[in-house]
Amino acid sequence: MDKLLIQGGTPLSGEAAISGAKNAALPILCASLLSAEPMHFINVPHLNDVSTMLRLIGQMGVEVTMEGNDGLVLNSHGLNNPTASYDMVKTMRASILVLGPLLARCGEAKVSLPGGCAIGARPVDQHIKGLQAMGAEIRVENGYILASASRLKGARIVTDMVTVTGTENLMMAAVLADGETIIENAAREPEVVDLAHCLMAMGAHISGAGTDSICIEGVERLHGATHSIMPDRIETGTYLCAAAITGGRIRLTNTSAAYLDSVVQKLRESGCEVSTEGDSIALNAPPRLKSVSIRTEPYPAFPTDMQAQFMAINCVADGSAVIRETIFENRFMHAVELIRLGADIRIEASNALVTGVPHLDGATVMATDLRASASLVIAGLVAQGETLIERIYHLDRGYERIEEKLSKLGARVRRVR
Ligand code: UD1
Repeated sequence: MDKLLIQGGTPLSGEAAISGAKNAALPILCASLLSAEPMHFINVPHLNDVSTMLRLIGQMGVEVTMEGNDGLVLNSHGLNNPTASYDMVKTMRASILVLGPLLARCGEAKVSLPGGCAIGARPVDQHIKGLQAMGAEIRVENGYILASASRLKGARIVTDMVTVTGTENLMMAAVLADGETIIENAAREPEVVDLAHCLMAMGAHISGAGTDSICIEGVERLHGATHSIMPDRIETGTYLCAAAITGGRIRLTNTSAAYLDSVVQKLRESGCEVSTEGDSIALNAPPRLKSVSIRTEPYPAFPTDMQAQFMAINCVADGSAVIRETIFENRFMHAVELIRLGADIRIEASNALVTGVPHLDGATVMATDLRASASLVIAGLVAQGETLIERIYHLDRGYERIEEKLSKLGARVRRVR
């Protein structure tokens, strides 16, 4: 299994390009199941999660053709097997995103229940409840969701909590339903908006994406389209944190500050200068940061996917900070690994009290999930000596060529096999 070896202590400097967003690409690839005509995608990130999704829809009869460096054509003309097996779903929870499109296009779907994961129980009851409200018959048998509907019917759905993939699944089901669907308490994440743009390019009638009330007027069929995946705001935020913790100065291109207000605000509070110009963001960090408290909430508030990275920053900042995680019940697994590097962190229920220490010391640490891995990389970049991160397959799920991009920014990092 691959590991990442980091020699800490070099301030990051220079320029790096941001890739397409994983969390936009995954639902958008599933949207191609909704039309029998070819879909062209650009700015598709090279990530293990994207390969897993392509394998999954490939098993369903979708033809996958790579185009150039980051282009992809998906043709669902021959879609004939509306099934997502446990073997696939267990490796990637986002596989649940095929449920809505399969049901809408094929009238049936058999999708494995995802089960829990490292960061919490993560049920999919809201996905199921919403589809039932649209007239789907759903049974859960032998760990599989068995869903059928001759044609889904528009409905008014109020989700119990804000759910990103839940909103996306229901939106994709509703675009081919008979009549109007309104999703209340919808997720406002930019990735939901990107999916809506793709669906609209395919001929869907959607309004309100980006607000908490999305209205979808179902159509009989969707056509092929071309869509460019939005930049990855979490990858962007992660590199900004990496530069901030090392006292660096970097510029990220092919990105957008538009979706990063809460993160940029916290970086400024920590003492960094952040400026934006067109599709680029520049950060200039002071030699030592100030602690910043954060509380994770659905968009546009501070994202849970940036929580671990800010915990790393606070480990070596002046003062103490409270990090409150409100989205997932078990998302502090990185804290024990950061403590192995010398951090001072106390966890009480969903709060972490982080008191900055003068410096971290390199050690061998274990990545437990995608963003936890990112926080260990960030900590390793500033720790004295060598940090060896094990189980970096988590990183490869969501960060394209991370060691290459970091090396380009001057970090001393290499993959060891
Ligand atoms: C998505 C993102 C993930 C991010 C998360 C929160 C993708 C592929 N993944 O995950 O990176 O961390 O949003 O921003 O886009 N819940 C239920 N029942 C449901 C659905 C959700 O109880 O049916 C709960 C979850 O357990 C969690 C909360 O709602 O506590 C929010 O989860 P949700 O927004 O659904 O996360 P994902 O869509 O899985």
